[in-house]
Amino acid sequence: MNGFLSPVQVLDALAALADPIRGRIVLALERHELAVGELAAALQLPQSTVSRHLKTLVDAGWVDARAEGASRRYRLLTGARTSPTGRLWGAVREGMASLPGATHDAERLRAVLAERRSASRNFFSTSAEAWDRLRVELFGARADVLGLLALLDDALVVGDLGCGTGAAAEALAPFVHRVIAVDRSQEMLALARLRLDGRANVELREGDLEALPLEDGELDAALVALVLHHLADPAAVLAEAARVLRPGGRLLVVDMLPHDREVYRLEMGHAWLGFDRETLERWVCAAGFERLRFVPVPPDPAGKGPPLFAASARRAVAAAAPTVLPTAAPAVAGASH
Ligand SMILES: C[S@@+](CC[C@H](N)C(=O)[O-])C[C@H]1O[C@@H](n2cnc3c(N)ncnc32)[C@H](O)[C@@H]1O
Repeated sequence: MNGFLSPVQVLDALAALADPIRGRIVLALERHELAVGELAAALQLPQSTVSRHLKTLVDAGWVDARAEGASRRYRLLTGARTSPTGRLWGAVREGMASLPGATHDAERLRAVLAERRSASRNFFSTSAEAWDRLRVELFGARADVLGLLALLDDALVVGDLGCGTGAAAEALAPFVHRVIAVDRSQEMLALARLRLDGRANVELREGDLEALPLEDGELDAALVALVLHHLADPAAVLAEAARVLRPGGRLLVVDMLPHDREVYRLEMGHAWLGFDRETLERWVCAAGFERLRFVPVPPDPAGKGPPLFAASARRAVAAAAPTVLPTAAPAVAGASH
């Protein structure tokens, strides 16, 4: 019943409402989308009777049905008050509301809806403890955090610096304007290319973090995840990250807190055994960043490595000339490595 109704259509539509049961059904559906069983309970009628009348209302264009799992939910199609059915309903609604039984229907409907709410409440009261496991089973271990990426500004151009196999670029891509992923390892980039195949807004660039293949101010945000501990001179790389960020752009470093797993130096080529806040603060300030936030990342029970931190800072808008720090010397530096 879209557009303008012809006189015949008006009469057909009104004829469909001419039965008091159908009038009560329409009233019940005015505010809520309901299943047949819920309507039957509210109107105290057999489901078969309600189904038969619903069919007439659907055929006449008053009501629409949509599938939800194995059942169907019905809703009124009067739409906006200015639509043809909306205007027609406005003209007859008052009369329908005075039908015998309409007030009791509304009261029973409240109880039906309360039952629907308590079914959900009951589920959570009996499965509260199991919910964390169930969420992982149903949606995966990262389900609680991946959706939070929608909080990001969708206009951002983000650099994933030291992207490895592109896991972060893959997670970010649906939520931001563009991801530029940089790594110097051709083997890592080959795997990233496989993973990111078909992501039109991700660009892979081969290059070194100490001389990034990016223009001055090209990025709104730069991610340096699990890379800093590999670098001979992290301070120089942070200064290079400041160059490719626009003024006010955001740096995010994710890495390990200080730890004592010396074996990582041999096994994985780590140059630094984690970083503390003071060391990182000195480097990011010298690189021209401000407003450092340094947050230990709550550990994932499944993780066997040292705890992580997430440190974010903004490139100063009126950029001071970066301070020249003495070249970092991981082998002899203090407690943070
Ligand atoms: C431990 S992986 C981390 C990868 C990714 N960021 C992640 O979180 O899964 C470190 C990556 O940094 C890259 N990398 C290390 N030093 C680099 C440098 N100086 N320039 C460019 N990439 C570098 C390595 O090739 C490697 O892919």
